Amino acid sequence: MQHLLKDKVTRLGVTFLDRYLDIHLKDIDIDYMDDQRRMRIGSQEMVNFGSDSFLGLDRDRRLHQAITDCLSEWGTHNGASRAFSNCALGGQAEQRLARWLGVEDTLIFTSVTLANTGLIPALVSKRDLLVVDRHSHNSIQEAAKIAASNGVTVRELYPCLPETLESLLQSEHYDACLVAVDGVYSMSGQIPPLAELDRVARAHRGLLYVDDAHGIGVIGDRGRGAAHRALGTLQNVLMVGSLSKAFSCLGGFVTCKRGELKRILKIKSNTFIFGGPVPPPYLAAIIAACDILESADYDRLIAQLRMLIERLVDGIRNLGMQVLGGESPIVSVTIGDIEKTFRAGKWLFDHGYYVQSATYPAVPINGGLLRIQVNANHTAEQIDGLIQAIGKMKQCLV
Ligand SMILES: Cc1ncc(COP(=O)(O)O)c(C=O)c1O
Repeated sequence: MQHLLKDKVTRLGVTFLDRYLDIHLKDIDIDYMDDQRRMRIGSQEMVNFGSDSFLGLDRDRRLHQAITDCLSEWGTHNGASRAFSNCALGGQAEQRLARWLGVEDTLIFTSVTLANTGLIPALVSKRDLLVVDRHSHNSIQEAAKIAASNGVTVRELYPCLPETLESLLQSEHYDACLVAVDGVYSMSGQIPPLAELDRVARAHRGLLYVDDAHGIGVIGDRGRGAAHRALGTLQNVLMVGSLSKAFSCLGGFVTCKRGELKRILKIKSNTFIFGGPVPPPYLAAIIAACDILESADYDRLIAQLRMLIERLVDGIRNLGMQVLGGESPIVSVTIGDIEKTFRAGKWLFDHGYYVQSATYPAVPINGGLLRIQVNANHTAEQIDGLIQAIGKMKQCLV
């Protein structure tokens, strides 16, 4: 323990949490949740605006049924790396995802983090270039470290603009190039210029790799994500989607071509080979979620979600506050320094609304945000209540 505290970054992290102990709201335990996103923490009742189950499918009886039916057939786990054996549901779920997205095939991992850290180092070799958006998810940054230690040239993309990418690619020598970006930034909810980045990457022997963890299920035509919306197809990019967030199941997947490419991804992704599978009941739930995404009921869910997002964004803007995002269910309100951001989150918590205070290093040092996640099973009254509370919080604090 004392040895660990000799490390400067560890010490900083611990000191930071101690300093804001009463207001940071990290690592909280929830005692109760219901279908309308009400929850209880200790004696405090509140509305949960911190869930990324955007479509409310975590409470959907169709997914529950799929899980319980599968449980009695397959048990809780099939107990082997997929490099050894698969339960048939794995391939079926991959095909259902592929059909929905209009691609040849997909490959499922146990999480998006494991997809990124397995796939990215697998896709580049010594004579290649890996370009990583500075604001992309931590798992892409970690994947880049693995690739760099394998001898791959890694460059940071900042700002994430086509002209920056263009001049970077012009100045480097490489065989092939992978450009890794997020589809929706997880803290701000903003979307990078994917169509333009794709155009530049392809003009320079590059391939765009989009981690669309937060866009899948909620952005674009039938929720096919930010990359699909920007490009009209996923044929010429690698897109990673989450099976946890809008899907409310477990895992992550990458789009790919059937046959040789899929085989190579399986052989070369260490997290696929050396890690366990998504358990069968969750594979059944993924198939049930695909059924919903392709059904008329999806139109109802997404219309409700979009109506609530718009109501929230308009309401907060009418308070004279700056809103980021809003194209996806992540709606972030700019607050500023770290302490102010924690105090704002704690004020709302004490007044019956849980939102997440996003502070450095997840966002720039004085760019603290209140990160609100809208879900299809919120009610309009809950949204209005949150807007009112933010208005009062602004008068009291900001
Ligand atoms: C862009 C992005 N990628 C990856 C992840 C991690 O996903 P997982 O929990 O499946 O590892 C997140 C989590 O929020 C994310 O925002």
